[in-house]
Amino acid sequence: MNAFILSNDSELRALVSRMCSIRTPAITVLTALPSMQKDFAAPLTAHPDLMIIDASSFPDSATNLLERMAEKFPQASIMLLSSDRSPEYLISAMRAGVREVLPLPLSPVDLDAALDRLSQKMATTQQVDGKVMAFVSAKGGAGTTFVAANLAHALSVLGQKRVLLVDLNTAFGNAALYVSDVKPLRTLADVCRDIHRLDINLLESSVIRVSPSFSVLAAPPEPDPVEDLSPDHIETILQLARRHYDFVIIDLGRQFSAASVRVLDNTDTIVLLMQQSLPDLRGARHLLEIFGSLGYRREKIQLLLNRYEGSGALTVGEVERILEQKIAIRIPNNFEAANESINQGTPILQLARSCTISKAFADWVNRMVDSSSPVKAGIIRRIFVRNPDSVSQ
Ligand SMILES: Nc1ncnc2c1ncn2[C@@H]1O[C@H](COP(=O)(O)OP(=O)(O)OP(=O)(O)O)[C@@H](O)[C@H]1O
Ligand SMILES: [Mg+2]
Repeated sequence: MNAFILSNDSELRALVSRMCSIRTPAITVLTALPSMQKDFAAPLTAHPDLMIIDASSFPDSATNLLERMAEKFPQASIMLLSSDRSPEYLISAMRAGVREVLPLPLSPVDLDAALDRLSQKMATTQQVDGKVMAFVSAKGGAGTTFVAANLAHALSVLGQKRVLLVDLNTAFGNAALYVSDVKPLRTLADVCRDIHRLDINLLESSVIRVSPSFSVLAAPPEPDPVEDLSPDHIETILQLARRHYDFVIIDLGRQFSAASVRVLDNTDTIVLLMQQSLPDLRGARHLLEIFGSLGYRREKIQLLLNRYEGSGALTVGEVERILEQKIAIRIPNNFEAANESINQGTPILQLARSCTISKAFADWVNRMVDSSSPVKAGIIRRIFVRNPDSVSQ
């Protein structure tokens, strides 16, 4: 969870910041400002989960400010600090979207209890029934990490979904590096080790937040010698994640273990990724046989041709005939763009939004998001048009 603090009382700001930082998990204070009026522009790019507003700093404009904040940051819970305890005042604050009103002078005990209530409330109200997609490859180096990481990013940006990318390559996974230059402080191994106290706050404090709606749970830095990553642990993490994210995208890569089978059991869609080569085709056929013996229906599996070329060694028709299944997704071959994106650790949509690969991701997201969703029509325009509002209809 992260927070804005608005107060012109520097001691109060320091107290609230300290109380936020010593919680487990800590609440990150994005900004603590004396006033929203002149500093307002700076924090607008951030997305606070919580706004703590000292009403005594805005005696004449508190209600107006609250309404503006509630409109600007609809996802944020607002906590108001005020010495006015009259019922009229409390009702008008609640009407303006305030969730908690705490008396001034502020008692640390009151603040801590209110933060507990908010954390619990957020954990239960934000539950969703997310979709889990696991990416497996017919052959090493087929592009699984690149495709999984970039689909996750595209779903968050174009589909406006909350997305968690989980790197389950437990030996030297590197998915986080494909979309971020932040070194993970905690990884999947830490979450497994703390499984007995796992909740959404712990999970969220263990991920890299690439953007407010896109997070990555990184792979352990080293192979897992003590087998902390048990199938039960992984299943517990996935079940929690799917209640809080619209999409959980898993990079499983090439490995097969008891934990990966448990992942596949708990997955809505398996994306089997391959290129147009004979070794890939053999690998894909072998995996389809294994999936069949594990009892997975063909509808659960989507075939993806990566580095697709019309002139490829095998045609789409040949691949489909041999695997007895349609290719659901084609990502074109564009080595320059893919390599640049991976080398820079920047998602391809951000780096080259009108390249062939970005267009394929936009098209895929377009098909994935619910056709009734109002964001659907805007996806292509949002990605390929710099200033959508200036385009004639
Ligand atoms: N659509 C594409 N067009 C061109 N090059 C691509 C494409 N997708 C991936 N690549 C290239 O393929 C290489 C391998 O990609 P990636 O690391 O994602 O594969 P992987 O399947 O995760 O590999 P590993 O089996 O080692 O985990 C990268 O160098 C990347 O630039
Ligand atoms: Mg990989």
